[in-house]
Amino acid sequence: MSNTLFRTKKIEQSIQDTEEPEHALKKSLSALDLTVFGVGVIIGTGIFVLTGTVAKNNAGPAVALAFVVAGVVCALAALCYAEFASTVPVAGSAYTFSYASLGELPAWIIGWDLVLEFALGTAVVAVGWSGYIASLLDNAGWHLPAALSGREGADGFGFDILAAALVLVLTGILVVGTKLSARVTAVVVAIKVTVVLVVIIAGAFFIKGDNYDPFVPKAKPVDAGSGLDSPLIQLMFGWAPSNFGVMGIFTAASVVFFAFIGFDVVATAAEETKNPQRDMPRGILGSLLICTTLYVAVSVVVTGMQHYTKLSVDAPLADAFKATGHPWYAGFISFGAAVGLTTVCMILLLGQTRVFFAMSRDGLLPRFFSHVHPRFRTPHRPTILLGVIIAIVAGFTSLSELAELVNIGTLFAFVVVAVGVIILRRTRPDLPRAFRTPLVPILPIVSVAASLWLMLNLPAETWLRFGIWMALGFLVYFVYGRSHSRLGRDEKAAADRS
Ligand code: ALA
Repeated sequence: MSNTLFRTKKIEQSIQDTEEPEHALKKSLSALDLTVFGVGVIIGTGIFVLTGTVAKNNAGPAVALAFVVAGVVCALAALCYAEFASTVPVAGSAYTFSYASLGELPAWIIGWDLVLEFALGTAVVAVGWSGYIASLLDNAGWHLPAALSGREGADGFGFDILAAALVLVLTGILVVGTKLSARVTAVVVAIKVTVVLVVIIAGAFFIKGDNYDPFVPKAKPVDAGSGLDSPLIQLMFGWAPSNFGVMGIFTAASVVFFAFIGFDVVATAAEETKNPQRDMPRGILGSLLICTTLYVAVSVVVTGMQHYTKLSVDAPLADAFKATGHPWYAGFISFGAAVGLTTVCMILLLGQTRVFFAMSRDGLLPRFFSHVHPRFRTPHRPTILLGVIIAIVAGFTSLSELAELVNIGTLFAFVVVAVGVIILRRTRPDLPRAFRTPLVPILPIVSVAASLWLMLNLPAETWLRFGIWMALGFLVYFVYGRSHSRLGRDEKAAADRS
């Protein structure tokens, strides 16, 4: 049995699958498209919303250091991702990579995990988007009824209609085709980056040195509560749960990590890239570098404009400008944030459908989902199914706990990818690799340790939820995936013939 659980899909087979006309995606993306895609999905709720929350609750001005920590963890993982993406240029990201190196069960686990990351990530960003739109509507004097803005109305019902509507519209755009969405993305990314640069450049004039004092606030004990909301690492070692101080920087890093999610999505578009061997590593590392630089600059500026204890947790970038007496900038920033979050949502949705598509093409999920649309050449069936489910989740969902769940899922995927790089170097040293991770196996090992460290800094209840989701995944695999696996059937047919 262990042989079948760890059966691996030949890399040549993965590439050949993508060439069957009925199941083939259009190859139309360049390195620039990928970088735009990357920046488009990376900059989002993380910097626009979470910066204020973690500065206020966990790290103070040292939130800038938390971004550096999270950025380093991502850069290590990116170096592993880039090798995999340039060796196995087919849809599905870490799922496909691990199918080729670690085996079917680990691949299933990672695919299931990525479905969680992208689906909930899409919902989180849609809710953040809806908050900014609601605030713009408020400025214009239009107020949505509480029951339709996600908050509970008088009858106890609350559905975030804006968030749900956004997900449905984006689903429609993705069904029509990636090229159209890439064009839309480029324009929106330009607006978003402009807004971030305005925050940095204009905000720099309003910095007061006093606000950086203290830069790393002293550690402060928190009420014990049930304990489940404390970072697992603190519970494991029996430390008194605390915020701020040096440990607070790591707690903050495990939350603002959400701000970097998305560079791995670039890898899911490998199959639609014209020259994946060259363009993948450029797209992934390029977008990560740009975003890390911007995040550190934004958090230094914002915590310099307003004392961290006074930062807003809903719209910290815009509100810091309001606090310094510049409401016009605040309106502009809110508008840009709302526009920018649209692309984040769309690309997460895209990554989500591509993983689902790849799993279905391999027979681990029903094959019904892997037929591409005859005219648009997009996987329209999983796109529509998941779009509708995510729209409902986004309608009924609130933000922060979901973001932590997304983070743990993503960090887990990083661990599997880094391990996969080491294994594939041993099992398939012959494969051409356009990009080679430096210092193997040391760098992937450090990447595993760094990702695990951030995971341990997430609350115990996040671990619990993640465990439940993964247990459900095991159930689906053993009840359906294992017996319907295309690889398993091919192997059986070959064995019967001989
Ligand atoms: N990195 C993306 C964001 O911050 C998911 O919204």
